[in-house]
Amino acid sequence: MQKLEVFGATKLKGQIKISGSKNASLPILAATLLSKKKINLKNVPKVRDIETMLTLLRSLGSKVNSKKNQLIINNSKQKKNFASYNLVKTMRAGILVLGPLLAKYSSAKVSLPGGCAIGTRPIDIHLKALSKLGVKYKINQGYVIANAPKGLKGNKIHFKKISVGATENLIIAASLAKGTTLLTNCAIEPEIKDLVDFLNNMGCKIRWISKRTIKIIGVKEVKEITHSVMFDRIEAGTYLVAAAITQGNLIIQNIIPDIIKTEIKILKKLGSKIIIKKNEVQIIGNKKIKNIKIKTAPYPGFPTDLQAQIMVLLCKSTKNSIIQEDIFENRFMHVAELNRMGAKILTNGNKAIIKGNINFAPAELMATDLRASVSLILAALTANGKSIINRIYHLDRGYENIEKKLKKVGAKIKRVS
Ligand code: UD1
Repeated sequence: MQKLEVFGATKLKGQIKISGSKNASLPILAATLLSKKKINLKNVPKVRDIETMLTLLRSLGSKVNSKKNQLIINNSKQKKNFASYNLVKTMRAGILVLGPLLAKYSSAKVSLPGGCAIGTRPIDIHLKALSKLGVKYKINQGYVIANAPKGLKGNKIHFKKISVGATENLIIAASLAKGTTLLTNCAIEPEIKDLVDFLNNMGCKIRWISKRTIKIIGVKEVKEITHSVMFDRIEAGTYLVAAAITQGNLIIQNIIPDIIKTEIKILKKLGSKIIIKKNEVQIIGNKKIKNIKIKTAPYPGFPTDLQAQIMVLLCKSTKNSIIQEDIFENRFMHVAELNRMGAKILTNGNKAIIKGNINFAPAELMATDLRASVSLILAALTANGKSIINRIYHLDRGYENIEKKLKKVGAKIKRVS
């Protein structure tokens, strides 16, 4: 099994180009199922979760050709509506094919997503909302077996809780439903805006009515398009933290700074100097890092997907900090590994109290999930000596060329088998 060796401590200096967003690409790939025409997608990151989604699409009959970060998808002969456990178990986003398959075939059988380390992650909000479009479903032997005897029909749907995946599934399904759908209390993550842009360019009729309300007028068919996926804001945030924690000087390129203004504001508050340009941000880390109290929240709040990374930085604050995790119930698994490196983090329910002034010591470590893995790299970059990070397949789910990008800015990092 592959591992990463990281030799700290180095100050990172140089430029990093941010890849296309994994979390924007996944729903867009699921939404290609609505089309029978050729779809050309650009800026798709080469990461494991995307490979898994492409395997799932191919299993459904999609033809996919890839060249570097470009994908050409042709669904003219796509005709299956069954997504197997083997493909959906490893990646929760597999459930995003349910909406488009129902829109296209009025019936689908999709495996429930597998258990996930960061929480139970149910799909009740997706199912309840789909039933409002006329879908009847039952859960049988780990599968959602769903059909809409009269086809999908638009309706008013209020999400009881903000869910990124449920908002995406419903936008996609309602795009081909008969009549008008009004979705309220929607997630408004930038990746959802990218999905809406993709669908509208394809001929769908989706409009933001107010901050969390979307109106969708169903269309009968969609047309051929080319779409370039937005940048990965979590990757951008991760490298911003990498600069801050190593007292480095990085220029983070190929981004829209306005989309990550919450993260920029927090890093500034903690002491980093940040210079914002048109499509890039320069960050200069400060030796003195202030403390803070933050809560994770749906966009535009602080993202749960950056919680582990910011926690590492807060270990270096001059005083204690507090993080409250309000999205997932079990997302502190990185804490045990960080404490093995010398951190002093106490958790109590969904709160973590982070003692400042920590010098991380190198260690052999175990990655537990995607963002936890990267937080261990960040800590290891500051530890004096060699750290080894095991189970990096988690990391490969979502970070494109991470060693290459970090090496280019001076990190001593190596993948070994
Ligand atoms: C997406 C992101 C993930 C991110 C998360 C929150 C993708 C592929 N993944 O995940 O990286 O961490 O948003 O920003 O884009 N919930 C229910 N019932 C449901 C659906 C969700 O109770 O039917 C709960 C979840 O357990 C969680 C919360 O709602 O506690 C938010 O989940 P959701 O926004 O749906 O996250 P994902 O779409 O799975």
